[in-house]
Amino acid sequence: MAKLKLCILISGRGSNLKSLIDACKAEDFPAEIALVISNDTEAYGLKRAEEAKVPSYVISHKEFSTRDHFDDTMAKKIKKYNVDLICLAGFMRILGDKLIDQWKNKIINIHPSLLPSFKGMNIHQRVIDSGVKFSGCTVHFVRCEMDSGPILLQAIVPVLPGDDAKTLAARILKQEHKVYPKAIKMIASGRVKIKNEKVIIDGAYSTEESLVNPLL
Ligand code: GRF
Repeated sequence: MAKLKLCILISGRGSNLKSLIDACKAEDFPAEIALVISNDTEAYGLKRAEEAKVPSYVISHKEFSTRDHFDDTMAKKIKKYNVDLICLAGFMRILGDKLIDQWKNKIINIHPSLLPSFKGMNIHQRVIDSGVKFSGCTVHFVRCEMDSGPILLQAIVPVLPGDDAKTLAARILKQEHKVYPKAIKMIASGRVKIKNEKVIIDGAYSTEESLVNPLL
């Protein structure tokens, strides 16, 4: 069967990109990375793409006076590669409504909290300050409102006494690297449907498949 063609959008370190590069190395993984786009020339993820011999491009938002123009330039590039799914992996720009609507249900994002809690930035410190006992990460389909959209997969991670934002982020990141490839596998299986803005997985009898829970 043809593999799902991915475009990965990054802005920095690219550790999630690396987890996808590694997952794609397995012959039976149902997706391949067609291209990587970074909005930042300095993104370390670009080096990872180069090492993996994946085509990568810098489209710097700084060179565009409007978001529409930036988005259109990205969309043109993505189209050239016959991409099936756009994966945001630490991409620090907000995409415009037009692009999101054009690619409805074909853009996913990974966010380091249990959405819909703790959207936005400075997440881990806010989690610690709030006193919640669990955090985690979420893969969701992208909608126009930031960090919103139908939730596909989540992993739960404990917030431990003595945690700071760094230690918590590191514990969550480990799970992110498992969750993102799994989410892509699920989408490639064709069993993921969205009804009333909720993800339904054909043939799943419980929510088990939507949870990657290291505590159990
Ligand atoms: C991850 O924590 C991801 O959830 C968030 O940004 C971070 C990106 O890290 N959206 P990396 O660039 O993939 O290492």
